Amino acid sequence: MIYLNNAGTSYPKPKKVIEAIASFFSMSPEVWPTLLKMAHQDIAAFFEIPDPSQFFLTKGCTESVAFIFSHLNWKAGDVLLTTALEHHAVSRWGEKLKNDFQVEHQIIPYEQTWNLEEIERILKRRSIRLVSVCSASNVTGERIPVEAIVKLSHQHGTLCLVDLAQTAGMFPFSVQEVQPDFLVFAGHKALLGPQGVGGMYIAKETPIRVADSSIRNQDSLEKPILQDMPNYCDLGSVNMAGIVGLHAAVQWLKDNDYLEVYQKIVQFSDKIQEMLRTKPNVKLMGQHPSKTPIVSFTVEGVSPDEVERKLKEKSIMVNAGIQCAPFAHSNLGTSPEGVVRLSPGVFIKQDEIQKIIDVLEHCFK
Ligand SMILES: Cc1ncc(COP(=O)(O)O)c(C=O)c1O
Repeated sequence: MIYLNNAGTSYPKPKKVIEAIASFFSMSPEVWPTLLKMAHQDIAAFFEIPDPSQFFLTKGCTESVAFIFSHLNWKAGDVLLTTALEHHAVSRWGEKLKNDFQVEHQIIPYEQTWNLEEIERILKRRSIRLVSVCSASNVTGERIPVEAIVKLSHQHGTLCLVDLAQTAGMFPFSVQEVQPDFLVFAGHKALLGPQGVGGMYIAKETPIRVADSSIRNQDSLEKPILQDMPNYCDLGSVNMAGIVGLHAAVQWLKDNDYLEVYQKIVQFSDKIQEMLRTKPNVKLMGQHPSKTPIVSFTVEGVSPDEVERKLKEKSIMVNAGIQCAPFAHSNLGTSPEGVVRLSPGVFIKQDEIQKIIDVLEHCFK
């Protein structure tokens, strides 16, 4: 089987990751705290987070987003600004905040996503409480200039959250350099870790306030003490095996020059894309030149589910549907059926790419 759903979850994982997870279960509890500390430090360093006490391991991106959004003390009249390409992990908060606190959710229209002047105009015109942007669309693979958007947000006194789910492990990201207020990521995609692990960074000066879980609070139940940064009691037990796996994955990525590896896969996906471009009944999604290795398309008269089924018969596993990104599809004009999404991973081989191209050629003749 050729697996082309790496933008969903990467497969296979490096051997080193599988071995690290398996060996964790026979490790003495005495070493668990050290393993956790090392993993926490190294994963924080991977994103150039200067102070690991501002970095938290979570179950994944959705949980990280939920933690941050639910601790922001929203008020009626606040505005949340997002792109149209956000994953449901972020976009669902637009609806929730509107219902719970009369917060307005302003969505940057798809074609304006790369228009920094327009984004600045929005930031100038009104007071935005939080800008939340993904570093790349999980539907089209188009990359979004999050570095510039963080900068613009700060120039206009606005907090900025970066959702790195689609590019963490593909392209480097430095918290120290970019200085987002919040960073969230998933461990199970290009980072090559297992499912159920991810993380978040929360800058020191952000208005996150969590109830103090220390004994001090017991003396003042009437007036609970609030603190800035969450701790173990706020986040609960961690997925140690998953974290050990993610730690091994981050080391594998560093040892294998991941930027170069991903550039090769982008070339492979470009090859598939170029072939599809020659098919008059195929419509390719996402024309922005800077992309992750995702190829999304629709086929005239054939539903994405049907294309997925046809490819599965040829042992090619793709993703069809809306990829948990409803606004992206309403902006791309692909609702309600969505698209076919192909996303090769780091272990794809040249001959497999050729097989995919041959099968697709045959499919859409
Ligand atoms: C851009 C984006 N954000 C968030 C998520 C959710 O990540 P997780 O599975 O870690 O909750 C995904 C997963 O598809 C994604 O692509």
